[in-house]
Amino acid sequence: MATTTTHDTQEHGMAAADAARASVKVWDPFVRLFHWSLVAVVATAALTGFFAGASWLQVHVWAGTAMAALVVARVVWGFTGGSYARFSAFIRGPRQVISHLRGIVDGTEGRHIGHNPLGALMIVALLATAALLALTGAVALGGMFKFGPFAFLADFASGRLARELHSLLAWGLVLLVALHVAGAVFEGWRTRDNLMRAMVTGAKQRRPGDYPAPRLAARPMLGLAVGVVFLGGGAASVSTLASRPPLGVPTAPLDAVYADECGACHTAYHPSLLPAASWRALFANLGDHFGEDATLPPETVAKLEAYVTANAAEDFDTLPANAFRRTAADAPYQITATRFWKWMHAGISDAVFKSPAVGARGNCAACHRDAATGRFDPRRIDIPQEITR
Ligand code: HEC
Ligand code: HEC
Repeated sequence: MATTTTHDTQEHGMAAADAARASVKVWDPFVRLFHWSLVAVVATAALTGFFAGASWLQVHVWAGTAMAALVVARVVWGFTGGSYARFSAFIRGPRQVISHLRGIVDGTEGRHIGHNPLGALMIVALLATAALLALTGAVALGGMFKFGPFAFLADFASGRLARELHSLLAWGLVLLVALHVAGAVFEGWRTRDNLMRAMVTGAKQRRPGDYPAPRLAARPMLGLAVGVVFLGGGAASVSTLASRPPLGVPTAPLDAVYADECGACHTAYHPSLLPAASWRALFANLGDHFGEDATLPPETVAKLEAYVTANAAEDFDTLPANAFRRTAADAPYQITATRFWKWMHAGISDAVFKSPAVGARGNCAACHRDAATGRFDPRRIDIPQEITR
């Protein structure tokens, strides 16, 4: 037993020495850190984007922002990094991609110790898709939820269009990641490399017949300086733009008489939650208001009706103003009867609405801390704690 162990150790030691001689640092620390950080933020963004509701939106946005920053940093390093990180060293034209593919089919293709031409194409596709996801996400956020750098610029319709593109791109990224993993598995099998481990340790073994990589010296200080300028400038522009007043969001406080008269039995609904026609219908029916008599003196009715119709859904661009513009035919002024309201709250049980802390579906302010402003920011939803399971 003892001799075998010694023998093993000796052989192991020799192999290690050989390996050290032939070993090349292919992936520098930045590339490795970038790769695994990107995996983490994309996984977070995907989980929160595909599966989670409004309460995870903030996490989703942070993951997306981190993804955008990583892409910017990688692009900078693509121009300032060394042999295996520099774009010019591995991005190849269609001719070389085709001849690489042909070589694989023929079995004549050697090993690219860095990215092969097809892998390089994948990296460009992944970076571009991630960049577009961040951009469409920011426009969707600005247009639909009225926060972030595009809130001052994007209207609801463009926000919704951006969100459609965003979800197409998200599926595109899922597909690309699957192909990327499949490609890495295939290439690892073809070249007998542990590519996953190489992306952790950075090292691969040089072999005779490898394609030579161009020798390019990394310029880390330049990369750092350019990176700081781009990321710092980007962060400063984003925060400047995000502090501009958002487009189509009500800013005036609720009219005091309205809040008083129409907040006596329930929350005073912000006028932007229903279209003008609905408000007119409601005010025409105060005598039979959901089984209650909510009659008011004619001059008060006139004043309040003028107020709500002048601040109705048509005049604003928030998500609820857009969503509740289409009311149910049989309940023209019931927000909770609209398709959108029902769909959005379908996951909340009856028991929650009936719990003492909420009381009724129409008690928006129990869960939406900004209900009085008409804004309904998804980041300000807070179902009362005592009733959440
Ligand atoms: C006397 C009490 C009372 C007063 C005063 C009152 N309401 Fe109501 N309102 C109700 C009740 C009851 C409901 C039905 C609530 C429900 O079904 O959960 C209701 C429902 C509503 C809804 C529909 C909410 C939903 O669930 O979608 C709107 C909009 C509304 N009221 C607006 C007003 C306005 C505007 C005024 C002021 C002119 C007003 N209410 C004054 C009792 C009142
Ligand atoms: C019991 C708590 C609760 C009540 C009461 C409630 N909501 Fe919500 N609402 C939620 C939750 C939770 C979500 C997010 C659902 C999701 O992400 O799937 C939501 C989502 C929304 C959204 C879309 C997301 C957003 O914030 O922009 C709107 C608009 C909205 N609610 C409006 C209303 C209105 C108007 C009322 C009152 C008539 C109301 N809600 C009453 C819990 C509530």
